[in-house]
Amino acid sequence: MTEAGEKILLVEDDPSVRTTIVTFLELEGFDVEAFSNTRDAIERLSHGGYRLVISDIYIDDRTGIDILQAAKKQANECAVILMTARGTMETVMAATRNGSFDYLAKPFELDTLLEAVKRAIAARTPDDDEVEAEDLPESEMIGSSAGMVEIYKTVSRVAPTDATVVILGETGTGKELIARMIHRNSDRAQFPFVAVDCGAIPPTLLESELFGAMRGAFTGADRDRIGVFEAANRGTVFLDEIGDIDAAFQVKLLRFLQEREVRPVGSPRAKTVDVRVVVATNRDLQKMVEEGKFREDLWHRLNVVRLTLPPLRERRIDVPLLAHYFLNKYNTRYSRHVKMTDSGLRELNNFTWPGNVRQLQHLIERLTILSPNDRIDAESVQDAIAAMDTKEGGGETLAETEADQIRRVLAATGGNKSRAASVLGIERKTLYRKLERMKI
Ligand SMILES: Nc1ncnc2c1ncn2[C@@H]1O[C@H](COP(=O)(O)OP(=O)(O)OP(=O)(O)O)[C@@H](O)[C@H]1O
Ligand SMILES: [Mg+2]
Repeated sequence: MTEAGEKILLVEDDPSVRTTIVTFLELEGFDVEAFSNTRDAIERLSHGGYRLVISDIYIDDRTGIDILQAAKKQANECAVILMTARGTMETVMAATRNGSFDYLAKPFELDTLLEAVKRAIAARTPDDDEVEAEDLPESEMIGSSAGMVEIYKTVSRVAPTDATVVILGETGTGKELIARMIHRNSDRAQFPFVAVDCGAIPPTLLESELFGAMRGAFTGADRDRIGVFEAANRGTVFLDEIGDIDAAFQVKLLRFLQEREVRPVGSPRAKTVDVRVVVATNRDLQKMVEEGKFREDLWHRLNVVRLTLPPLRERRIDVPLLAHYFLNKYNTRYSRHVKMTDSGLRELNNFTWPGNVRQLQHLIERLTILSPNDRIDAESVQDAIAAMDTKEGGGETLAETEADQIRRVLAATGGNKSRAASVLGIERKTLYRKLERMKI
């Protein structure tokens, strides 16, 4: 099949982007018809004859998803590529569910577009039934960088399957959030999602925690205890910090993944369970395998689909999005009206974020409560970052003037000391000591 001469319909409201794409694709030999609004595009689509539709997502009162549906109505084998600078998990999910062929995060290289066009035209899109229109809900997963859109694409493909997923990434990059997204966008969504922090449970207890235990199986087991795998039947079990499990448990987990059976500790009988397993770690599992610290066969069992979340410093265009999202959230929570300034944003953008999104979140929470004059500017960002640093290092170097900060944070959190400690970025114990010293 020859590509040249294939008819493409383009919907893009930005005139310069529109012209660039049209010129480029025409030079590549395609026949492109461009529209700047959804009404004309949908009208034209009703006449049929297009092999491929390329559309922006946010255009006017209707979206790229409407264009997608009109294209599918016109001819089911019409391929669709959606593009947007505001990609969210929800838009990618909706597009995938509605049979979009590809999804490009703006800005993209023209070569990337060409590859997507060629792939779309070469592929036969499957015959699928019509789908109903959906509104795009607000996202909880923030980030429209190309790196995150790639993650959303993989999630949207893998979520509806039963495949085991390994989520890698530095601390605070959103691994647990992604695990929840996978569950929520699967057929298991109405069944339990159970997260187990494997690093926090003593190795000896992990087996009974996950597989269950019969009464009397060990000291303290005064009744039968159902394990997580059984409790989460038909749902998803999220094994967090999987890099922390010991050699003995690695064998048990491997056997479970092969046989999908649980045998509670002390029980002669095994039961079949139906759970999807998603695991995460911020450790380098591959390296642990090479060093003999993690079983290679278990690694292969787990590594069916692997997602590696990019650190925040490698997707800086997400920093302002996240900062505004968290600012909004904490302004509401603490009834504040703190505003972000340009200089504040610039300062946030320049930071390296070793603690990734979690660190940014804590910083904004702190700034929302403590910002003088209700403004987040360069200086307050610098101060907050410096304060976090000392706390991560020493733990007890809060200056005397910070007694005032502690009071304000406690007031904002309604006296909740755990929350206050987390906002201040110190341990709860440290906060208690300080409160004692301050005679609060
Ligand atoms: N893209 C995102 N959009 C909104 N919030 C996010 C995003 N990524 C992370 N967060 C928030 O940052 C915090 C840390 O995320 P999460 O617990 O998923 O990180 P993690 O990768 O599991 O970290 P760790 O390795 O330390 O366990 C959470 O409060 C989460 O809601
Ligand atoms: Mg985590």
